[in-house]
Amino acid sequence: MKRRQFVKAGVAGATLLLAGSVVQAGGQKEADAKAGKINTLMNKENPTVLEKKHVPLVEAPKSVKKGEWFQVKVKVGFMIEHPSKPDHWIDRVELQVNGKKVSEIVNVAGGTTSPNACFTIRLQKPGDVKLEAVADCNIHGTWLGEPVYVKVI
Ligand SMILES: [Fe+2]
Repeated sequence: MKRRQFVKAGVAGATLLLAGSVVQAGGQKEADAKAGKINTLMNKENPTVLEKKHVPLVEAPKSVKKGEWFQVKVKVGFMIEHPSKPDHWIDRVELQVNGKKVSEIVNVAGGTTSPNACFTIRLQKPGDVKLEAVADCNIHGTWLGEPVYVKVI
């Protein structure tokens, strides 16, 4: 192979690789959504960088009075704050109570919107209530956080 052919082949290969990675990254969310895939924290002792940046963390009081409003904060991700850039951001954060969606915020523009969210809710029935959050990254798909329990008194 002559030098010129070698250089051309190298450039073509690099271009193909770059295009492949962009398509893969952009297509991951679509593929996950079609498959209904929800990512979770696989190993609490040794989370991956993707998990650190995408698994949401719910912060709520340990106990609340029934019928009184209180705040639930959701941080994305649970160890490293997710970026907010025009081409890569958290486009939705959902709050679930006992496995049922009760609220969500939608961020339509990266770079301006925070990856974190704050909800104000109230609970009417006494007992232990499970709170969970789901976060969507426009590139890296859907992530479910660890459950947090609130005692309603
Ligand atoms: Fe992401």
